Amino acid sequence: MNTCIVGLQWGDEGKGKIVDTLAEKADIVVRYAGGANAGHTVVIGDTKFALHLLPSGAVRPETTCVIANGVVVDPDCLTGEIDSLAQKGFTLTGRLFISQNAHLVLDYHKAEDQFRENSLGKNKIGTTIRGIGPCYADKVGRTFAVRAADLADLDALKQKLVKIVGHKNKIFTALYNAEPLDAEEIFEKCKLYAQKLVPFITDTTQLLHKAIEQKKSILFEGAQGTLLDLDHGTFPFVTSSNASSLGMSAGCGVPAKNVDKFIGVAKAYTTRVGSGPFPTEQNNDIGSYIRDRGHEYGTTTGRPRRCGWFDAVAVRYSVTIGGIDAIALMHLDTLSGIKQLNICKAYKIGSEDSTFFPSNIETLAGAEPVYQTVDGWDEDLSGITRFDDLPENAKRYVALVEEFTAAPVSIIGVGPKRRQTIFR
Ligand code: GDP
Ligand code: IMO
Ligand code: MG
Repeated sequence: MNTCIVGLQWGDEGKGKIVDTLAEKADIVVRYAGGANAGHTVVIGDTKFALHLLPSGAVRPETTCVIANGVVVDPDCLTGEIDSLAQKGFTLTGRLFISQNAHLVLDYHKAEDQFRENSLGKNKIGTTIRGIGPCYADKVGRTFAVRAADLADLDALKQKLVKIVGHKNKIFTALYNAEPLDAEEIFEKCKLYAQKLVPFITDTTQLLHKAIEQKKSILFEGAQGTLLDLDHGTFPFVTSSNASSLGMSAGCGVPAKNVDKFIGVAKAYTTRVGSGPFPTEQNNDIGSYIRDRGHEYGTTTGRPRRCGWFDAVAVRYSVTIGGIDAIALMHLDTLSGIKQLNICKAYKIGSEDSTFFPSNIETLAGAEPVYQTVDGWDEDLSGITRFDDLPENAKRYVALVEEFTAAPVSIIGVGPKRRQTIFR
């Protein structure tokens, strides 16, 4: 059984928790897109792990972890993550495989991300400043790309870096009045990365297809969320990869026909970090209540997340374009104590009601949510393990989510821990 887990909103839906939970029965977990902009939280007992580049299978000692070609790898972050997990007893030796074709995020990408955001002022995208956009731009541009395989030929890499850094410095000093970066210094760091990472670098496409032949069970771990997809999200307030399930095949060389199930992860409400339209945002006491109860602060940047009502129009769109078979509805516990809950079931755009998510942000910015209001519940859900034991109003809420998104809810999250999960 191969399963792809993907975010249906603007990221941080709880993918890490679901991947970790399902990884119990998987042989391999694969990250296929994004980079260290991701922050996937896994809680084991009282220990919390925030994974940025390693697949969430990393905290299961028997699980093989693959970082496929579609990921942009920040070697500084990755080597740090490998060391920090090793200190906690989770060694990656022999079970981590990094695609030779994955592109590397280097210092000049992170610098450029910061320069660009600063130059945009209040129109900034609100990126994570992890160098994601500039690295994917170099990948598409080809001329200045550095890939994981380049770490295996240091002489050639040195020459490449001198050329690239020289070019970048001309731009950075002219446009941003920046201090020039030192190619030699970046190269010295790359030598250290090479020592640590080269043993893990391989042909992951071949590895995955062999695993498929051997009927191994693979989990594909999406990063970000469908509404942040470069082509299908709320452009330009998106990330620079295909963060929907549509990016899975391109990101690891495995066709969708090899995936048995696509599970979309959504919170029982909506959050967003960074800029861009957010029709159901509650910049008020409700938003603060959700933020406090749900601990809605960024895993990667610590920024407070913008919070709002569940947007079924947006999630239905993500389900539709992503071929989603079932929803994992997280954080149902966080909604306890709200007297009346709203679910956005349509947008009023001009004089018309529409249930289809608009494909441009100008229309989205003018969309007014049409809400279905339902009674909430006061009970603490965090100890419930069976759907039947949920309060009637919580069950009704889940049923409405299913009705308005046109997808079954097969998993419900009632807390951050592994066992705080209801399967139906
Ligand atoms: P990801 O990026 O999709 O993996 O999500 P994040 O890890 O960035 O954010 C999700 C947060 O919610 C983390 O702090 C999780 O530990 C936590 N979490 C996940 N599922 C649940 C849930 O059902 N209830 C509660 N209260 N917390 C959850
Ligand atoms: P996970 O995998 C939430 C957002 C940023 C910003 C936009 C572009 O943890 O769900 P980028 O640094 O990618 O150029 O930023 O995308 N963003 C995320 N928001 N969760 C994420 O990842 C995100 N990765 C990027 O906040 O709005
Ligand atoms: Mg996250």
